[in-house]
Parts: sequence; structure tokens; C-alpha cells
Amino acid sequence: MAGLAPIHTDMRAIIEDIRAIYRNDPACRNIEFLLYPGFHAVAFHRFIHFLWRVGVPFIPRLLSEFNRFLTGLEIHPGATIGPGLFIDHGMGLVIGETTEIGRNCVLFHNVTLGGTGKHHRKRHPTLGDNVYVGTGAILLGPITVGDNVKIGANSFVFMCDVPANCTIAGTPARIVKRNGKSCDEELPRTKVVEGRTVNVEWADASVPPCEGPDTPSQWG
Ligand SMILES: CC(C)(COP(=O)(O)OP(=O)(O)OC[C@H]1O[C@@H](n2cnc3c(N)ncnc32)[C@H](O)[C@@H]1OP(=O)(O)O)[C@@H](O)C(=O)NCCC(=O)NCCS
Repeated sequence: MAGLAPIHTDMRAIIEDIRAIYRNDPACRNIEFLLYPGFHAVAFHRFIHFLWRVGVPFIPRLLSEFNRFLTGLEIHPGATIGPGLFIDHGMGLVIGETTEIGRNCVLFHNVTLGGTGKHHRKRHPTLGDNVYVGTGAILLGPITVGDNVKIGANSFVFMCDVPANCTIAGTPARIVKRNGKSCDEELPRTKVVEGRTVNVEWADASVPPCEGPDTPSQWG
């Protein structure tokens, strides 16, 4: 019955998702959490991801396409989503297969957490806890976004990591605020070291590095 433990975890995560709606959207009153397509998509995804984790073939992909048809959000069954995710509006949002999202994050419509087409295995972004991604932001590659980061609407991040505790904006995105102080800094590029993608290079980074084989001979 070991497989039941993840079900409990998913149920707790759904309760955290409901709390996140009330925390982040002052417009949500009484039982209106039931009306958020982002909530529907994520709740359904948690079930689909459970099937994916236990190795059910084909059905998770089929259900995720159905989820997309119903909600307008495309979440790959393999994406790992922490509790307390709030997706506002949601239409057009894309979350790729190897994406990892921490606790209490906020995403808006048209956000893309995508791959570059060059990486295999881990090829989509990893978001830390309390990450806020504005509408239309595009994050590409196996990058790491630290905790407590705000990403401005329509920002574009390609193969660059984002340090914790900062605000980034623009195309390409730059750091406009770090640890509460205004600044204007380039984002550090995601490094590929000896064929492996190494995402975090700051001493104070709170998200563990994600690594993955980066050359065809290592994909296994
Ligand atoms: C970028 C964003 C996240 C900043 O939010 P915030 O709460 O004001 O964040 P912070 O206080 O950490 O940072 C604000 C600083 O970023 C700067 N900033 C914001 N956008 C910027 C940009 N595009 N270029 C340069 N600087 C920018 C502000 O000027 C401000 O600088 P200051 O403190 O020196 O005056 C916000 O403007 C944003 O884009 N939110 C998305 C909202 C959204 O998508 N809503 C959809 C509703 S349907």
C-alpha cells in the first residue's frame, strides 16, 4: 500500500492550492475557488502525475490532453508541482515534462516553462519556493530560479539562472532588484560543465543544483 502515501500528499497539496487562491486573489470570495481553471488543471494534474509516477503508459498523456482541452492549460504529466500553486487565469500556460515547481508559487496566463530543444532528460526550468511569474513570461532550458523571485510580465529568460530574493524583468530579463535594493544586473548564464548542466553558481543559492547529462552519448 506504499502507493497510497503519495495520494495523501496530493490531497494535502490540493488543500494548499485552495488556500493559495484565497491568499493571492482578493477577488475570491466564499466558494469561488471552484471556478478557477488553474485550480481545475492543477488538481487534475496531481492525479495524472500520480499515474505517471506509478508508470501507467499512455493514459497520463491522454488525460493531460483532455485537461488542456477543458482548461486551456498544458501541463505535461511528468511535471512536479509543489503544494500551494496558484495559477491565475491560466489560458495558454505551458509547463514542460521535467519542470519542477516549489511551494507557494504564482503563475499567470501565457507563462511558458519550456525546453530549448537542445537538452534531454532535465530540460525544463526548476522554480524554488515563493516564485511569482508574471503573465507572458517565457523561461527556457534547465535553468534554476531561486526562492522568493518575482519575474515581470513578458520577461524572457533563456539558459540563465535567477538568484534567490530578486526581481527580474525585460527581454532578455535583467535583475532589477536584489535583496530589496534596486539594481541593473545581467543574469548569470546556466553552465554546461563536462557535459552536465549545472544550474546554480551562487554561494547563497537555496535551490539545489539540478544536473543532467547533456550530450547524446550520456542520455542512456
Ligand atoms: C516586475 C513585477 C513582478 C514587479 O513587482 P513588484 O511587486 O513591484 O516588485 P519589486 O518591488 O520587487 O520590484 C519593483 C522594482 O522593479 C522595477 N521594475 C519593474 N518592472 C521593470 C521593468 N520592466 N524594467 C525595469 N525595472 C522594472 C520597478 O521600477 C521597481 O523598481 P524601484 O523599486 O527601484 O522603484 C511586476 O511589475 C510585474 O510585472 N508583475 C506581473 C503582474 C501580472 O502579470 N499580472 C497579470 C494580471 S492579469
